[in-house]
Amino acid sequence: MFLKNKILLSTAALVFCAGLSTQAMAHGDVTPQAVDTGGLTPLGEEWSDLNPYRTPSEDNAEAIKIGFSAYTQNCARCHGLEGISGGIAPDLRMLEAGFDGDEWYAYRVINGAVRNGAVYMPKMADTLSQEALWAIRTWLESVSVTE
Ligand code: HEC
Repeated sequence: MFLKNKILLSTAALVFCAGLSTQAMAHGDVTPQAVDTGGLTPLGEEWSDLNPYRTPSEDNAEAIKIGFSAYTQNCARCHGLEGISGGIAPDLRMLEAGFDGDEWYAYRVINGAVRNGAVYMPKMADTLSQEALWAIRTWLESVSVTE
């Protein structure tokens, strides 16, 4: 009985979320969602050159968890659910590992992407913390499809 309720509940939550993201897309709504990074080591103002939550960081597991939800709320509408791109924006599971990938990742989330005056990607770092953005990078690395 308890289990059944739980399943019903999570189905309801899924339907609700699907509705929300469709709505967000229909309205071109890009309002970033607050991300609770309380469980992660704070990083300060200065941007780190390297993903600080990568193994052997003791924050790694927590960062993956927070990063998944932060990605789903803030990036998935363009980059695809679970990181699997539907073609609107690049597939972030293919970002390079290590320093090169980190550098490019930080550059993009700080600067966004503008082409001929049109905003392709907003400057995500204006509204999301460095902690939230490195957590997303950490989750993306956990589902990476490159070596
Ligand atoms: C409004 C749509 C949109 C949202 C929201 C968005 N992006 Fe993007 N992103 C894009 C587009 C489009 C590009 C490709 C830009 C280009 O090549 O000019 C891109 C490119 C990138 C790149 C470079 C990928 C590559 O292979 O070159 C990274 C990294 C990235 N986004 C990370 C993120 C993260 C992390 C988030 C969420 C915090 C996010 N983006 C949210 C649209 C979006």
